[in-house]
Amino acid sequence: MLSKNFKILVVLLAFLTIGQCLLTIPLKRGKINKELQPFIKGSILRNGINGKLINLEDDIYLGQIQVGLSQDTFEVVFDTGSNFFWVPSKSCETCIQSGMTKGYSCTQEDACVSSEFVERIYYATGDISGNVTNFVVSIPGTKPVDYFGILVDFVQELPSGLQGIIGLTPFYDFQTETKKPNLITLLYQQKQIEKPIVSFYQAFEVDEKSGKYQSAITFGGYDETKIVEKPNYFKTIKKDSWSILIEEFVVGGVSIFKGKEEALIDNGTTSFYIRPDIGGKFFDYIMGVRNITLGDNYDVDCDADFPNVSFTFLNNENKLVTYEVEPDFYITRGTNNTCYIYFEGYIGAPTFVIGNTFLRKYLPVFDYEKKTVGFARTVNQAPKLPQKEQIQQY
Ligand SMILES: *[C@@H]1O[C@H](CO)[C@@H](O)[C@H](O)[C@H]1NC(C)=O
Ligand SMILES: *[C@@H]1O[C@H](CO)[C@@H](O)[C@H](O)[C@H]1NC(C)=O
Ligand SMILES: *[C@@H]1O[C@H](CO)[C@@H](O)[C@H](O)[C@H]1NC(C)=O
Ligand SMILES: *[C@@H]1O[C@H](CO)[C@@H](O)[C@H](O)[C@H]1NC(C)=O
Ligand SMILES: *[C@@H]1O[C@H](CO)[C@@H](O)[C@H](O)[C@H]1NC(C)=O
Repeated sequence: MLSKNFKILVVLLAFLTIGQCLLTIPLKRGKINKELQPFIKGSILRNGINGKLINLEDDIYLGQIQVGLSQDTFEVVFDTGSNFFWVPSKSCETCIQSGMTKGYSCTQEDACVSSEFVERIYYATGDISGNVTNFVVSIPGTKPVDYFGILVDFVQELPSGLQGIIGLTPFYDFQTETKKPNLITLLYQQKQIEKPIVSFYQAFEVDEKSGKYQSAITFGGYDETKIVEKPNYFKTIKKDSWSILIEEFVVGGVSIFKGKEEALIDNGTTSFYIRPDIGGKFFDYIMGVRNITLGDNYDVDCDADFPNVSFTFLNNENKLVTYEVEPDFYITRGTNNTCYIYFEGYIGAPTFVIGNTFLRKYLPVFDYEKKTVGFARTVNQAPKLPQKEQIQQY
């Protein structure tokens, strides 16, 4: 008997330990269906952005989240630039029309309760609305936690390919009177993860055939095998967003911006978004000095002479740290042998939005307790841009 009890105890302890370890779930790099996606055409300087941004082109990283006691799985965007969680309702017709392949049935048996309160959220590429709803939510490997979200019954102009978004800003600020900790903090408070940290490794390649995705989101810490240096940490400058101070932005060796402005670290977006006065200087340099022609959809000649860009931030030890990004990281080849440049002018705060284009090269570590963002060079090597000769073979 004794030994049997002991065995049970050991098993329990083992479970607890596993529960507190790092939890890594794979991320899938989705392809956005261009035909379903209403393209935002036109000017370099976009306006009317209200709320938050998600990606434009063909780069989007999705991870799994389980909703309800039934643990119904949805592939959602884990988005450090927004604070809302939502999944499409099963009865949402516009969701189906915009390419969302799955909807959620909210029932009491599944511990889902909808309220009468309707919320609408605007993203850069579209908007959603639906009833504020009490769900239970888990990520593969954790126990369900009570969570708020929106059961979406209307959506327009969002990229297809996603089945929801989970916002990961420091606070899940639903209605002004109710500040709720977000999922990461909740999992930490319930001792399901070791530290209130989330980090992302976003690979270029997807090994879909073997069923393994190289990209991964890690809860509770970061994956040391994915980086080649220790992270540098930067203090956040706002309570409710992952923003840090940017000190300098250099393009091709030319300083385009110097000062102290807000940079939002947002893996919910692909591009770099820059305030128009600075963005304008960037594009002047690209078009003028580098003689690069820019198309309506930010399409560029793959063979053009693109510069390196660099971003400088002041770290927690008061040292300036510069991160260089080569064209292989910020130019992406789309379908039909067109290349796209992942920079956009953008009207409205913050001054810089640093998206996945940067975060693929420098792994971000979001620490909810220390209120810092860390960056470390990843093992990621960008695919080389194709040469003209190679393009013609396609
Ligand atoms: C959603 O909210 C609307 C407006 O308050 C209400 O009429 C409707 O019954 C709610 N839907 C659900 C499923 O609770
Ligand atoms: C943020 O990065 C992680 C890791 O790649 C990814 O799972 C998550 O979906 C990203 N968010 C977006 C919006 O791409
Ligand atoms: C700029 O590029 C165009 C073609 O894209 C070319 O005709 C022109 O000669 C180039 N100008 C300079 C100064 O390189
Ligand atoms: C561009 O950046 C890469 C990586 O930091 C560096 O190796 C290369 O020398 C840079 N090129 C120029 C022209 O500065
Ligand atoms: C791809 O390029 C070909 C040839 O230039 C053109 O006919 C076709 O319409 C293009 N397709 C798309 C989707 O742009």
